[in-house]
Formats: sequence, structure tokens, C-alpha cells
Amino acid sequence: SADLSNCFIPGDGIGIEVVAAAIEVLKTVAKNNFELNITNFPWGTVFYKETGSYLPSDFLTTLKPFDAIPFDAVGAPDVPDHLSLWGLLLKMRSPLQLYANTRPIRCLTTPRLASVHPSALDWLLVRENSEGEYAGHGGRSHVGQTWEIATETSIYSRHGVERIMRFAFAAAQKRPRKQLTVVSKSNALRHGRVLWDEVATEVAAEFPDVHWDKELVDAMTIRMVQKPHSIDTVVGTNLHIGILSDLAAALAGSIGIAASSNLDPTRGWPSMFEPVHGSAFDIMGKGVANPIGAVCAAAEMMSWVGEERAAAGIMKAIESVCEIGLLTVDMGGKLNTMQVTEALCKALGS
Ligand code: NAD
Ligand code: IPM
Repeated sequence: SADLSNCFIPGDGIGIEVVAAAIEVLKTVAKNNFELNITNFPWGTVFYKETGSYLPSDFLTTLKPFDAIPFDAVGAPDVPDHLSLWGLLLKMRSPLQLYANTRPIRCLTTPRLASVHPSALDWLLVRENSEGEYAGHGGRSHVGQTWEIATETSIYSRHGVERIMRFAFAAAQKRPRKQLTVVSKSNALRHGRVLWDEVATEVAAEFPDVHWDKELVDAMTIRMVQKPHSIDTVVGTNLHIGILSDLAAALAGSIGIAASSNLDPTRGWPSMFEPVHGSAFDIMGKGVANPIGAVCAAAEMMSWVGEERAAAGIMKAIESVCEIGLLTVDMGGKLNTMQVTEALCKALGS
């Protein structure tokens, strides 16, 4: 087993609460197995208020030597969301080349809707994480005047679309059903979406054993609810998968269980692992946040760094804790964050 050098960025709100859970679980799984070195970077809204910036200017050189970055959530009630998100999370994704975002979704308990059978909901959502609607291009002119204009330009490069398509087809190929749905909105949004569809067709030719189809994003929301068994791997743009993954997590039981891996598949930079959820202003400070999304993200991270046994152990602990109903309130249980974390560590044999 290799040593693992991690830096944590807990961020804000319940991010700080669930990151503590993920650290506990990682320490438990590391015991007698591998050396785990943890460095904590307190980048978040407190840091922003003290320094005027969410990240120090040398954050890239600071992060480069680490094997992986567990991150949690950023956002505070008294800072506009676009400042916190573009100050921290979105500021890191592009320069760290984290262009592939994977969001596995599985039912851990009874699904929310009768139409969703637990075995039908085992999906891998793949999000283009570096361009599209989140390219950060646009602006405002004539601010405050009647003829004020705001633009937010979506950018699709052939290079960017090709690399995420290839990543998604390869990911689908590794799964038992070898099935991929390419999501777009190419009926109304003509240019970038058509490039997206064209590239999908070209890349599909390299993966003849992957069954693939196309779905418009609006129809995809219907399909996720009404025909969940028809879905396996899904690829889409930054905004589309951002929205579909919240729906998928809610269908599977709770936003609190979903993990998100921000990957640099070339492995030139450390990849970043986080729960899908945000800092949850309505429950922060109460100690009731579901830690499972953050802990699942820790399992995804272990798998990425080659510690497959540790990853499988964490997932098994999550499954057993859910099976016996040791759940937080969002999943219909009565336990708090700390109690679920203790149950997870116990299941891991601490
Ligand atoms: P949110 O995900 O924080 O919360 C949405 C709802 O889900 C809330 O009712 C919340 O209580 C619940 N929830 C979320 N995580 C939970 C958990 N682990 N356990 C139990 N319940 C949970 O989304 P929001 O309210 O739209 O955003 C709040 C702040 O977080 C904003 O500043 C937003 O920009 C930010 N945000 C950050 C990230 C990120 O850093 N990755 C992601 C989403 C939102
Ligand atoms: C997510 C989050 C973020 C995103 C927001 C907060 C910018 O919702 O990781 O899904 O859309 O990337």
C-alpha cells in the first residue's frame, strides 16, 4: 500500500461538519493499512473575510504535490453565491484540469418514488467539468439602465467535447451493461449542442460494444423518474449534469448521499473529491447533516489512488449501516452526523 498525502478543504457550513466525518472514516480505514498524511487548508468564507480572497494566489503550487484533494462545500448566507463559488470551487476546477466529473448514484435505502425500484437506480453520471455553460465568459453592459444586457456564453471546444465523450464511452464500457445516454439540448441550442452530438457519433465508432442513445435534457428528467431501469451511464454538459445529478440523488434517497469526483484523467494534477451537496444554510451548525455523500467521496478517492480494498471496505460499511437503518433525518432516520460516523467506523471494525 502506498502512502497517501491528502489536503482537505472543508469550506463552509455543513461542509466543515461532514469533512470531519470523512476524516474519521479515512483514519479508521488507514489504520494498519497505509500511512495517511492530512494537511488542512482552511480556505472558505472565514479565510475570505480575513484575507479578501477565497484562495491564496499560490494555491496551484500549494496543491500540486498532493495525491488527492477532499473538498466539501462552499457558500455562506452573507456572501453572494457567485462570489464564493467563483472564488473557490469553480476557480480550482479549470486550472487543475479537472475536466471529468463522475457522479455515481445508487439507492442505499428505499427509493423516494414507487416507480423507482432500487435495482433500477444504479447510474453513473459524467459531467463535462471545464467549459460549456460554466466557461465563465460573458458580462454586463449598461448596468442599471433599461437597455442593460447580461450575457453568459456557453463554450464548447472540439477538444473539450471529444475528451469528455471518450472518457464517458470508456466509463460505460467498463460497466456491466455497457450503455451510455448522451444528453443535450440540441433542438433549441443549435451550435455547441450540434458539435456535442456530432462528436458523440464520431467517438461512438471507437466503442462498438457500447450501446448508446441520445436524449434531450428535458425528456431525460421524465425518463429518470418514469423509466429509471432504462438508464446506465449518462454524459452531459456542465449545467445539465449539475441539475440531473441533484434529481438523481433525490430519487435515490437524499442529496446527502451523492458523491462527486472531479478528475484529471491525465493524472497531471491531484483530483478533487466532494459530496454533491452544498453548505446547506438551513441545517448548518445543527450537527444533523448526512455524512454519507462525503464518505462516499472518500471511497471514490481511495479507488482513484489505487486503494481498492479501502474503497470497497468503506462502501461495504455504508451499505451495512444503511441496511440496519442507522440513518440521518434526511433519509428518514433519527441519528445525527456524529452517530452515523461512529456507526460507519464501527462497521469498518475500529
Ligand atoms: P444545498 O445542497 O446546500 O442544500 C439543498 C437542500 O438539501 C437543503 O434543504 C439542505 O438542508 C439539504 N441537504 C444538503 N446536503 C445535505 C446533507 N448532507 N444532509 C442532509 N440534508 C442536506 O444547496 P443550496 O441550498 O442551493 O445551496 C446552499 C449554499 O451552498 C449556496 O451558497 C450554494 O451556492 C452552495 N453550494 C455549494 C456547492 C459546492 O460547494 N459543491 C454545491 C451546491 C451548493
Ligand atoms: C455542484 C454544485 C456546483 C456546480 C455549484 C455550486 C456551482 O451545484 O457541484 O453540482 O454546479 O458545479
